[in-house]
Amino acid sequence: MPLSVIIGAQFGDEGKGKIIDYLSEKADIVVRFNGGDNAGHTVVVGNKTYKLHLMPSGAVQKKICCLASGVAINPKTLLEEIELIEKEVGKVKLFVDPRAQIIMPYHLLLDGASEEKKCKKIGTTKKGIGPCYADRASRQGIRFSEFINKNKFYERLKEVVPLKNLELKAFGLKQKNAEALFKELSKMSYKLKKYQMDVSKYLHVSLKNGKEVLLEGAQGFFLDNDFGTYPYVTSSHTGSAGAFMSAGIAYHECRVIGVSKAYCTRVGAGPFPTEINGSLASAIREKGNEYGTTTGRPRRVGWLDLPMLRTASRICGFTEIALTKLDVLSGLKEIKVSTAYKIGGKKVKEVPADTFLLEKCKPMYVRLKGFELSHELKSFYDLPSEARSYIKLIEKNVGIRVRMISYGPERKQTLIKAQE
Ligand code: IMP
Repeated sequence: MPLSVIIGAQFGDEGKGKIIDYLSEKADIVVRFNGGDNAGHTVVVGNKTYKLHLMPSGAVQKKICCLASGVAINPKTLLEEIELIEKEVGKVKLFVDPRAQIIMPYHLLLDGASEEKKCKKIGTTKKGIGPCYADRASRQGIRFSEFINKNKFYERLKEVVPLKNLELKAFGLKQKNAEALFKELSKMSYKLKKYQMDVSKYLHVSLKNGKEVLLEGAQGFFLDNDFGTYPYVTSSHTGSAGAFMSAGIAYHECRVIGVSKAYCTRVGAGPFPTEINGSLASAIREKGNEYGTTTGRPRRVGWLDLPMLRTASRICGFTEIALTKLDVLSGLKEIKVSTAYKIGGKKVKEVPADTFLLEKCKPMYVRLKGFELSHELKSFYDLPSEARSYIKLIEKNVGIRVRMISYGPERKQTLIKAQE
């Protein structure tokens, strides 16, 4: 299938970077369609680890990379990552859509300040994501095409900076000056100019010509601005429908790969029904290196939540699941999986639309015998029977095939399970 969409099926950090890197080998073009440098995609190749926040993970495979219209771009991060890739991998082949939004220095300030003042904190990455997307919605954003055009950029700053200063003042922050901002950023805008390309049109033509395209999602479905655990969400659309809109392509028949860890993690605040605490959580956190790639924060840890996976699969139309970090569960005596929730005495099989109901739900667990994994496996059938039962339980409950199984950070630690 020429088009594949990769979606995080939980709260982000599912290991999408590795899955995208694995799939990139056969792809021609890898497109990041949402979010900004709040994301952190880790790709391990041999003894090298790449931590990318904005550049699509396909950059490590020297693929054509695109930042689509739905992306929020911090120009400083983008230039740093271009430099890193050019130093470590080779010349980047990058196209940036003119409609993508620019994260401005005042967005970072406002993100931090509004988080401080909130009584219920979201725990944002403080990368300016929310304020940048809010500006897009309120028509105060600066698009990539404006940013790289000297006259337009200056004109736009003159229009929006006075409005932003009202907000900065209200938060007791130092106000910005349009001329100073123009001076500060115009060197970067000049360097990025050559990457502009109408990504929407480019993808349309590429798909028509039979090119293999991967649409790479950032964050996870339950951080979606509409369907996530609102207000504890990010500000973009993280699901598969968002992928088409944000990349600017019409709906195509495609593989939709829902990436899920064999357990679950969350960074930041918000409901997490299967969360566990204490020594077991610490052991999983250490073994899985569950610390934010972007902020270094320790991730909250919990059991796999099938109502979440079922809900994400229904709304995103997953055609398959990629199960990651199975090795982290290796050595546990017992593994628990939530197959449903109890809400007010009722059994519920999906995530409720109301976040306050999700906060009250009690997960219903199935207990499974643990397993020990070895470091090198050749096929699905090399997995211990208990691990295979675990995977089959997921498939039975979600109604979707688990096609890829990742049991370590390296490319070769990936199994493809045949259709049964
Ligand atoms: P923001 O995207 O920085 O506005 O943060 C909103 C929420 O999304 C916070 O709970 C963050 O911790 C979470 N978040 C944002 N990006 C990621 C990610 O890439 N992985 C996991 N959580 C994320």
